[in-house]
Amino acid sequence: MGLNLHGRSILEPADLSPEELDYILDLSDELKLLKAAGNLRPILRGKSVALLFEKPSTRTRCAFAVACAELGAHPEFLGKDEIHFGKKESVRDTARVLGRLFDAIEYRGFDHATVQGLARDAGVPVYNGLTDLWHPTQVLADLMTLRSHVGSLRHARLAYLGDARNNMGNSLLVAAAQAGLDFRIAAPADLLPSQDVVRAAEVLAAQTGARLSVGESVREAVRGADAIYTDVWTSMGEEAKLSERIALLRPYQVTADVLAASGNPDVLFMHCLPAIHDSRTALGREVREKYGMEGLEVTDEVFESRHSVVFEQAENRLHTIGALLVSTLA
Ligand code: CP
Ligand code: NVA
Repeated sequence: MGLNLHGRSILEPADLSPEELDYILDLSDELKLLKAAGNLRPILRGKSVALLFEKPSTRTRCAFAVACAELGAHPEFLGKDEIHFGKKESVRDTARVLGRLFDAIEYRGFDHATVQGLARDAGVPVYNGLTDLWHPTQVLADLMTLRSHVGSLRHARLAYLGDARNNMGNSLLVAAAQAGLDFRIAAPADLLPSQDVVRAAEVLAAQTGARLSVGESVREAVRGADAIYTDVWTSMGEEAKLSERIALLRPYQVTADVLAASGNPDVLFMHCLPAIHDSRTALGREVREKYGMEGLEVTDEVFESRHSVVFEQAENRLHTIGALLVSTLA
């Protein structure tokens, strides 16, 4: 046991024990301070990390690239149309090639089995940069951000509203169980996490003392909350489900009234981003024209308010991914 993460792959939040999670969060804080003081050292000099992306990314890609650069490692971006992966070359063969050339592989894509296959055959650490099921590196930044505001994660009250069966709903539920949070989900019955994910989180919660509640009521979820979290209503690859999701999820939009219902004047607003909060994007304009909504999962008022810590979360992607690289590779 112990806290030796060297050589480990991180495919889902449950791949870290509660102690390992704490360790990564502490190391992330330390790297953030070292960077601010101009004291980061190239401790990963000579290492190379493959960044394999089948879906778009701003934060995850840039956080891996910048963390590698700052720590002395070489990041190599491999877009889905630029290599043979999945077309002429199988996951298994690609894994065996990349594993001989790189010290670690980050993968973002659709099927979770793909990242599992890479991890099985590459022989080097593989990090899941998001699949349809899990987004483990995101929740590290979320917990780091929440902890920096509330002091301790133990029984910190986090409410998650919206599509709770996507990669973020799943990941937050399990990470909340690991970290000992008081975590409440409010989502329509059709968009709750699967029984398997809920059961796995409950097993962890029984060990850590986390409190978990999964239901449909926004009011119950947000009462007394320290932070309210939401994510997009259609994840990457689900764009065709937009009207169905809007019909289900309208009552779950994070508005100023929802923040007020927490009863906490300093409640935080959290989002992994990108967020549909106005009509300055193509999707935002479509939403306004077709559905008469200004923003989807969150209003612009909340997104831009003093409650919002979304850009701290985005920045903390860098420090947490740096911590993951250092602890698994250095
Ligand atoms: N939050 C997140 O994963 O952002 P990107 O899709 O931009 O990487
Ligand atoms: N659930 C979102 C998360 C984006 C970071 C998606 O998969 O598109």
